[in-house]
Amino acid sequence: MPKGTSLSIVRRLPPSEATERWTGARHGLPKAYGRMDLIVLGVGVMIGAGIFSIAGRQAATMAGPGVILSFMVAGITSLLVAFCFAELSSAMPASGSAYTFTYVIFGEVWAWLVGWALLVEFLLAAAVVARAWSLYAAQLLADLDIRLPRPLAAVTGQAEGFDLFALLILVLLTAVVALGARIGLRTLWIIVIAKLLAVGAVIVVGATHFDQRNLSAIPVPSAPAETAADTLHSSLLGILFGQTSAFGWFGIFAASAVIAFAYIGFDVVATAAEEAEDAPRSVPRGIIRSLVITTVIYLAVAVVMVGMISYDRIDTKAPLANAFRQAGEGFMVHVINIGAVLGLTTVILVMLVGLTRVMFSMARDGLIPRSLAKINRRYHSPTRITLLLGVLAILLAEFVPVLTLESLVVIGTLSVFIAVAAGVIRMRQTMPDLPRGFRVPLSPGVPIVSIAACLWLLVNLQVITWLYFGAWMAFGVLVYLAYGRRHSVLAGLRSPAGPPTSELHGENRGRHRR
Ligand code: ALA
Repeated sequence: MPKGTSLSIVRRLPPSEATERWTGARHGLPKAYGRMDLIVLGVGVMIGAGIFSIAGRQAATMAGPGVILSFMVAGITSLLVAFCFAELSSAMPASGSAYTFTYVIFGEVWAWLVGWALLVEFLLAAAVVARAWSLYAAQLLADLDIRLPRPLAAVTGQAEGFDLFALLILVLLTAVVALGARIGLRTLWIIVIAKLLAVGAVIVVGATHFDQRNLSAIPVPSAPAETAADTLHSSLLGILFGQTSAFGWFGIFAASAVIAFAYIGFDVVATAAEEAEDAPRSVPRGIIRSLVITTVIYLAVAVVMVGMISYDRIDTKAPLANAFRQAGEGFMVHVINIGAVLGLTTVILVMLVGLTRVMFSMARDGLIPRSLAKINRRYHSPTRITLLLGVLAILLAEFVPVLTLESLVVIGTLSVFIAVAAGVIRMRQTMPDLPRGFRVPLSPGVPIVSIAACLWLLVNLQVITWLYFGAWMAFGVLVYLAYGRRHSVLAGLRSPAGPPTSELHGENRGRHRR
């Protein structure tokens, strides 16, 4: 039987091999992140298109003032999942994050599926946010009365078709990531601070226009779906219950599923674990603290946004900026545009970093070509895979109408969240003695509630999102059967029965290092 073609379903990575650089010395990433850096990384990747664009659109079209509740539902779900990420990354601080956790806990096939879902999460998120970046950058230039020559204006700030700004930002940030984490880190700190100042101004100035009456304008639920197109764009739950998805409770929950996009990114912090100092402690703290900071900011912005103007006057194209314009605070439009351009820049940057780290891990394990895991000696970074993924993000942003695919990012992410929460429960049973820097409180209660909350958000996503995701995952299975299963490094190293018990308990670390 050819190598690696049998029993790949039970192949599991021993924990020692997940946390140590076992596949060859050239595959090591240098330490780059201190404790505060990880919090900045989390805030940098989370605060972006979700709050600047998606929140207002959901308030105007799906939830009305109930968008505050939508933010709470998505925020609580994220916080529960963050605890699970914190435990697993404290036990296995590896750059593959959820992919590596799943490889150790459930086995190669599941790991592949999680890696494939992470690919769609990070790659598509980078492309979506690059496109949103272009819209804000073009708006900023227009507001500052800077006119581009006509041929350039026609290819900038476009929602679809070729877009020069989206191309430029992706080329620039791919180059920053390829040149090494330290260069990216300095840039990140400065931009994140500027972004926080802009969001702080939104909250403070917006609060001065807060009017309680705007919160009591409860929208009337819209009519149930009638046409096939309506059905495709209704939430799965709405269809099952024959209910409408716009406004009312169904609308609030459907909005919370889309708004989960705004919280995506705390999981990216876990991908920095291999490059973090004192990772078993610093990574869990980085994940949880950055998420708590972001949640508080989001709730404040949501309250201010629907408190400033009535939800039916919110502009779906530039919600926040337009709300301030209507409130007579013209200068805030510039603050928001600058904040969004900066904010979205760090989202793309950290998404690209996370993406390269997960794919680097998959390459290191042989599930995609191992040559992609080569570390560039000069820049101490996985340059090859970074450039490849940068090109893929550009192709996606330029040739696919990605701004309509935000929910696909969410469905991929929620699936990964479920795998991680289930991983905590399973790891407590199979590897109780593996050292952990952080333990989820009230386990298995918290992981079980996390899974239920993610499932709840998933059924609130549109039918069409499920169809796209199903097609993507089916394609992933084919790629695994055609390549990963045969080229897996583990297939050549270990017996199919899985790692010895001693390793599952965290003993004999590094025994299999080559
Ligand atoms: N959370 C990130 C954003 O909102 C992906 O842009």
